[in-house]
Amino acid sequence: MRKLRVGLIGFGFVGPHHLDAIRRLGFADVTAIATTSEKSARAKAEQHFVAKGYGDWRRLIADPEIDVVDIATPTHLHRPLALAAIQAGKHVIVDKPMALTSAEARTMLAAAQRKGVTHAVTFNIRYNALLQHARALVARGAIGDVRFVRGHYLQEWLLRDSDYNWRLEPAQAGSLAMVADAGAHWYDMAQHVTGRRIVRVLADLSSFIRTRKQPGRVGAQRVRVPDLGMVLCEFDNGARGLFATSAMCAGHKNDLTIEISGSEASLRWEQERPNELWIGRREEPSQTLLKDPALLDPPVRHYAALPGGHNEAWPDAFRNLMRNILSFVAEGRHPREADEIAFPTFRTGLRVARIVDAIAASARAGGRWKPVANSDV
Ligand SMILES: NC(=O)c1ccc[n+]([C@@H]2O[C@H](COP(=O)([O-])OP(=O)(O)OC[C@H]3O[C@@H](n4cnc5c(N)ncnc54)[C@H](O)[C@@H]3O)[C@@H](O)[C@H]2O)c1
Repeated sequence: MRKLRVGLIGFGFVGPHHLDAIRRLGFADVTAIATTSEKSARAKAEQHFVAKGYGDWRRLIADPEIDVVDIATPTHLHRPLALAAIQAGKHVIVDKPMALTSAEARTMLAAAQRKGVTHAVTFNIRYNALLQHARALVARGAIGDVRFVRGHYLQEWLLRDSDYNWRLEPAQAGSLAMVADAGAHWYDMAQHVTGRRIVRVLADLSSFIRTRKQPGRVGAQRVRVPDLGMVLCEFDNGARGLFATSAMCAGHKNDLTIEISGSEASLRWEQERPNELWIGRREEPSQTLLKDPALLDPPVRHYAALPGGHNEAWPDAFRNLMRNILSFVAEGRHPREADEIAFPTFRTGLRVARIVDAIAASARAGGRWKPVANSDV
């Protein structure tokens, strides 16, 4: 059996982590990368022992030796690149958020379904072993009925007006910036861990730093996207949710947190303490479960690759997700068999995009409850 051959487009921050996660699997490899110039593609390919480096993604997609195209570029390129890869009959992975709008995501899903290729979105964080354990606990009723889901994604990299990134450009990241980009992980995680869908939202979005200095441009540039978002949610079982995000919170490096309170117990997981799951109870002492495969629910035990005491974190969750996606492809399974639990598909990405659309509609309406478009896709 030969190794599955992945072509990776985009090699900035997250691209090399896709490469790392794929190489850890053993049965797959990245055999080509594409960046914005021939020179940088070749240099990066050489540096990482990747066989081919292309300065144009079209050549990577046309390469007959590529089985799977993995897209790790800024978000505005996800739709055109994914459509081209699907057209060429390749299986496709795109990083999150799946697209700039739900209309784009819908087009991508329809194209992948027509062509019969496997499609996946890298909501990687949910494959942390303790989040998978939390999902298993909720699914078997261990915390009772889910009533209240809350959390945040707080960072600090936009604290000053000299901080700038493509995520502030609506043309590249959409009109909601971090509320869509970082928020996508939380909306997905909240739905995945609870097993419930968000059906309505009420959003309050603000902009505190209205002009920023953009590298390479003279003078201050107007910023047209929010830098703070607060979202109330209602889930399909009536549970309520509360989410906040901003990248202007000094001291918060990558503080993605989720807490779920049910009728019997609460669960809390924090990305900055990824080996701990807090389990809150009233009639007995609350506990902090430290990651240890021996203590995890048997069906999800394999998400912990190391014995207790050896910490596992973000790159390990990424590896877990890539294993699920690429083993599905390697086994030659039909995309219709994908269940969205083993890996998020374009359906999952579309649902999240629809939540983001509803958040935008709510904010435009001055903070009124807005339904999430029918997620039965
Ligand atoms: N899953 C996660 O946890 C996670 C984390 C970070 C970023 N992301 C997502 O991954 C994507 C990339 O984010 P990033 O932080 O790596 O951004 P980045 O700016 O660090 O890297 C993007 C790369 O894409 C390249 N690129 C741009 N246009 C290209 C083109 N036409 N052809 C080939 N390459 C091109 C750029 O040169 C750059 O190297 C975004 O959608 C982002 O939301 C996901």
